[in-house]
Amino acid sequence: MKRLSIDEILTKSELRDTQITVQGWIRNERGNAYVRFINLNDGSTIHNLQVVADVNNFSEEVRKDWNTGASLKVEGKLVASQGKGQNVELLAEKITLLGASDAEKYPMQPKAHSMEFLRENAHLRMRTQTFGAIFRIRHGLAFAIHQYFHERGFYYWHSPIITASDAEGAGEMFRVTTLNLENPPKKEGKIDTEADFFGKATNLTVSGQLEGELGAMGLGKVYTFGPTFRAENSNTARHLAEFWMIEPEMAFYDLKDNMDLVEDFLKYLINFALEKYADDLQFLDERFEKENKQKKKEEQAEMGLIEKLRFVVANDFERLTYTEAIDILLQSNHYKKKKFQYDVKWGVDLQSEHERYLVEKHFKKPVILTNYPKAIKAFYMREDEPLADGKETVSAMDVLFPGIGEIVGGSQREERLERLQARTDEMGISEELWWYLDTRRFGSVPHSGFGLGFERLVLFVTGMGNIRDVIPFPRTPKNAEF
Ligand code: 4AD
Ligand code: MG
Repeated sequence: MKRLSIDEILTKSELRDTQITVQGWIRNERGNAYVRFINLNDGSTIHNLQVVADVNNFSEEVRKDWNTGASLKVEGKLVASQGKGQNVELLAEKITLLGASDAEKYPMQPKAHSMEFLRENAHLRMRTQTFGAIFRIRHGLAFAIHQYFHERGFYYWHSPIITASDAEGAGEMFRVTTLNLENPPKKEGKIDTEADFFGKATNLTVSGQLEGELGAMGLGKVYTFGPTFRAENSNTARHLAEFWMIEPEMAFYDLKDNMDLVEDFLKYLINFALEKYADDLQFLDERFEKENKQKKKEEQAEMGLIEKLRFVVANDFERLTYTEAIDILLQSNHYKKKKFQYDVKWGVDLQSEHERYLVEKHFKKPVILTNYPKAIKAFYMREDEPLADGKETVSAMDVLFPGIGEIVGGSQREERLERLQARTDEMGISEELWWYLDTRRFGSVPHSGFGLGFERLVLFVTGMGNIRDVIPFPRTPKNAEF
């Protein structure tokens, strides 16, 4: 018999009144002395298939195994349902237990669990409605990212995971070594990195950008989509030590082209989720609403989840410079009433409270901030003409989203060899980045790119509150379980 998913069973009308076989996990089981109802789920949809079992046909011995979490194979006839809540149900003729589940011990009981409890049970949480919905949407967004770029002539480009360079120059790297850490070989009192596997010190990549730029210098338009690693000790609801990043890099694109691309890209992805994952989003929308009602008035979101997603797709992002943003912050009542915890003045890096004020209170829509001070951005960003008062900026762009803050960081790249070299000299990295500088020596072109934090996107689309809940097995300080 053809293998059928519960999604197919629930949506294909031609299956009605036919014999089918289905396999899945019991979400819950209830009923009376004559008939039992088993809700079965196989991960293909948020909806369960209701299996109806006549007690006369199944012995006590068989029925005692119908516990939440157990897996079953059920054969029977699919019929129109008598009850409310489903169109069809399966009249069971044969039920085979595939794997038993001890009702007392199974952690995923059919009731509301705290997010913390579900994180501690991340090996089982994909069996809940919430996490089923999140991970289906996560998959869908990943697929849509490849589709978007493929249809627009970008090539999927694989930057290395192990690298000897620090692309962001922020020094938040995980070391990769095969040296014996108990007793490492030494040279002149220091660890002898030449004796290490690669003959030099290496680390897990913080970004695939620099190698992405090399790709764009021959293939024109490329994008990476892979894991990146940051050893920053930030225990927040927005940071992971291991996260996935999408980094497109385009030859012949300036900052304006870069902004147009990122806006179109984000809208496409959100719209894709709205169209293809409507049932999962409907469920998450209701969940979001419940959570929202429990928050303090001033922290409540003004829009529902689906409403917010539609709003982002339908409206232009606000575009302004860092300098303009600082002026807005300085003139805000929020600032005058000293409600910001961190100082606001030209030259400081914006804190998440500032970003969220701009996005959630002032503009009430996504914002692209550009032309940040040179001193607070990475070495590879293109230098702008100095401002009238002599302040120095670079062609950076950050995309800020409501409820998230920074979702994308990018820039036009410095394509002029002398300027770039001056900056790498300052940082003492010109020698190790000889290959990067070579792209500016041989046929340099204006080019741009950005990095989208995949989990921040999934966080936004699913309306979840913590980034640990949108990746199957989160890696955060002091936590590498599973
Ligand atoms: O702003 P970032 O550090 O930029 C780069 O890495 C550039 N090389 C990107 C480029 O231009 N190709 O990181 C980019 C994005 C951030 O905007 C954020 O969404 C995400 O990556 N991100 C994180 N997501 C989760 N956990 C963390 N610790 C993150 N750090 C950055
Ligand atoms: Mg950034």
